[in-house]
Amino acid sequence: MQSLDQFAQGKLDDLQRRHLRRTLAETMREDGIWVERNRCRLLSFSCNDYLNLTQHPAIKQAAHSAIEKYGAGSGASRLITGNHPLYAELEARLARIKQTEAACVFGSGYLANAGIIPVLIERVGLVLVDELSHACIFAGAQLSRGKVLTFRHNDLEHLRKLLAENRAAHENVLIVTDGVFSMDGDLAPLADLNTLANEYDAWLMSDDAHGLGVVGGGRGSSFAGNTRIPVPLQMGTLSKAVGAYGGYLCASALVIDLIRNRARTLIYSTGLPPACVAASIAALDLIEREPGYAALPVQKAKAFTRRAKLPEAVSPIVPVIIGTEEATLAASQMLADEGYLAAAIRPPTVAPGTARLRLTFTAQHPDDAIEQLADIVRERILN
Ligand SMILES: Cc1ncc(COP(=O)(O)O)c(C=O)c1O
Repeated sequence: MQSLDQFAQGKLDDLQRRHLRRTLAETMREDGIWVERNRCRLLSFSCNDYLNLTQHPAIKQAAHSAIEKYGAGSGASRLITGNHPLYAELEARLARIKQTEAACVFGSGYLANAGIIPVLIERVGLVLVDELSHACIFAGAQLSRGKVLTFRHNDLEHLRKLLAENRAAHENVLIVTDGVFSMDGDLAPLADLNTLANEYDAWLMSDDAHGLGVVGGGRGSSFAGNTRIPVPLQMGTLSKAVGAYGGYLCASALVIDLIRNRARTLIYSTGLPPACVAASIAALDLIEREPGYAALPVQKAKAFTRRAKLPEAVSPIVPVIIGTEEATLAASQMLADEGYLAAAIRPPTVAPGTARLRLTFTAQHPDDAIEQLADIVRERILN
């Protein structure tokens, strides 16, 4: 038998050979956009802090006050003693923004997906997942013990075919998709997906991790295009545009009651530190109050794609697809040498052959820096 260390060494050597070995780089974020890494100051185009709210004075103050009042940690699961009073306010705020009856806050977005899907889909159920959905949706689907099928990215006809072939054999069917795709930045066709779900008596769930705060006037992807798409299960995270930490589900009061009773990642995991909940409330206040500010990240991404001659951005995420892992790492290093942080994204996060730079635009990125970055990308990477 191999020793544990031999096993680890073999796996790491294999990753190294395939240019897929990852390391944790120490990164000091000094404000919303600048970071220090390897003693270099870099302008970051790799943070999901789309509204730069991690550094907003009012939001930091809300977190400080919550620590003073309630302490550093929550001390237990929400179902025991970890449900401090701030939770009710945050959940009411989320439900209001998403226009649902109720909401439930989890420890993170990953925990939310890993907890919600197994409550809704049991052994006799079916989960249909867009192939480019986030890893934690697949984790939740696998934990459900139902049948899991993937449909081609945003391909309604493929989804219809899978529904036609499989619907009758399953008691309940859940269709799950990112609202804004995390590595590609495009939007799911939620209106059409919802129609299809209703046609086949299936439930639709969207993961709006990258939509809340930045698309649909800040309300997220089910409000994109100035309409409200009545997606019955709207999941998301508080760790991106909201600038704090935690996950959530917005749904009907009955569904939320069931989730609180059955979601194992809620029941058997400690509640969020009060500071995270307080910061999220303050951030949602700002997002609701200032839709003009919430629109900035997408505007900046559009300015970039126009100048770089890439397909027009529809979210703050712009993929610059390069292909091989080696070339992507080299492009990321070249940009670092020019003073920009643009992380290389490689398989298995994205499909083999589609390694890329994933650029994210935030409200406070200066326009001239965006222009310079676009010129470098157009002339030295895409050329
Ligand atoms: C689409 C999507 N869903 C869920 C998550 C997980 O959220 P969290 O970081 O809060 O665990 C992420 C974050 O990486 C994401 O991009």
